[in-house]
Amino acid sequence: MRILVIGSGAREHALLTGMKAPHNELHVVPGNAGMADLATLHKGVVDDQANMVALAQDIKPDLIVVGPEIPLVAGVSDALRHAGFLVFGPSQAAAQIEGSKAFAKDVMAEAGVRTAHAEVVPAGSTPEEIDAALDRFGPTWVVKDDGLAGGKGVVVTPNINEARAHVNAVHKAGNPVLLESFLDGPEVSLFCLVDGETVVPLLPAQDHKRVRDNDEGPNTGGMGAYTPLPWLPTDGVQRIVDEVCVPVAREMVRRGNPYQGLLYAGLAWGSEGPAVVEFNCRFGDPETQAVLMMLETPLDDVLAAVARGELADLPPLTWREGYALTVVLGAPGYPEKPVTGGVITGAENTDNADSDDVAVVLHAGTSRGENGELVSAGGRVLNVVAHGATLEQARDAAYKRLEQINLDGGHYRTDIALPAVEGRITIPN
Ligand code: GLY
Repeated sequence: MRILVIGSGAREHALLTGMKAPHNELHVVPGNAGMADLATLHKGVVDDQANMVALAQDIKPDLIVVGPEIPLVAGVSDALRHAGFLVFGPSQAAAQIEGSKAFAKDVMAEAGVRTAHAEVVPAGSTPEEIDAALDRFGPTWVVKDDGLAGGKGVVVTPNINEARAHVNAVHKAGNPVLLESFLDGPEVSLFCLVDGETVVPLLPAQDHKRVRDNDEGPNTGGMGAYTPLPWLPTDGVQRIVDEVCVPVAREMVRRGNPYQGLLYAGLAWGSEGPAVVEFNCRFGDPETQAVLMMLETPLDDVLAAVARGELADLPPLTWREGYALTVVLGAPGYPEKPVTGGVITGAENTDNADSDDVAVVLHAGTSRGENGELVSAGGRVLNVVAHGATLEQARDAAYKRLEQINLDGGHYRTDIALPAVEGRITIPN
């Protein structure tokens, strides 16, 4: 198959790696430096419908996989489908599940899905209106930018001054704010393939969103993740599917906007079970890098089945034994003010095929300097993804590989999956 992937992060690098096969010809727009030996890189404006259609007409792919939310919310999948291409990724109308938090809340209310109580505080609200709204919540305050913010638009804080400051910052950018009640309990990311009312879950994962160890510092797009979750109840995935993802998929069909693509349910597992923190309309980053390392079923078959509307006919997915873990290397200053252009060494992938614990480097914000050297070009620079028979072994393999990589001022968390390894994750009673 000739496959075009839209996007440029480590998630897209993982998608391309999963579809690497002698019978596949891979293309990516815009891609990054680390993908050049896997796929042909193309220039393009990924949220411009006409530009993406023109590129696809040039490449003539058999399958197009849209990675990030921005082109999905901009209707790029609709334009490509309209031009006759087979596309993995929801329509613009269905992508509102991520594009508008108010839309997602409405879908959940209709579908009877447990989620946080929420209130919109419109841009232009007076200081008195903002304070009155904050008084109806917290502590702890959950303040969200009601627009696309790549996971970075959320502040969760016990401090009302910090909460008020984020409300004002979001309003200053012209966006409404969503205040939410705080959901207690450990977080779960469950990705489901959805094709109308057919829902197939992938392995559950857990992201680490704060920039520093022990969940300190500001939120990021995600600093690391692991899968599966040893602390999740054995019926955990099935409960999320039955209580969250199937009701939402049915509600989307009922509204005449069937979902076709990847539905990412971000949840907190509280005393009553799963409650939705947010939905995303695409694979999560960095969880995807770990989840796809565990998948044995060829990824191109899986994504093509969804795109063709044949998910119900796909044989059950098969998974490797053990665990996978990913750790993100951030640029100096990330997430506040990432400094780019630093030289990266030691990031070449070597052939570890003889090893039980394999660690690979997936690129995110990288490019080539004037002399061909690898340089940082974004806040999240690269991921090291490792597999192990146990979570400890996966951790050891990932951190051993990270020590070989150098980027001046680069930083990563050293505690990815550590609370799970040490049995410190508990579900509230
Ligand atoms: N892992 C967070 C996200 O993909 O939004």
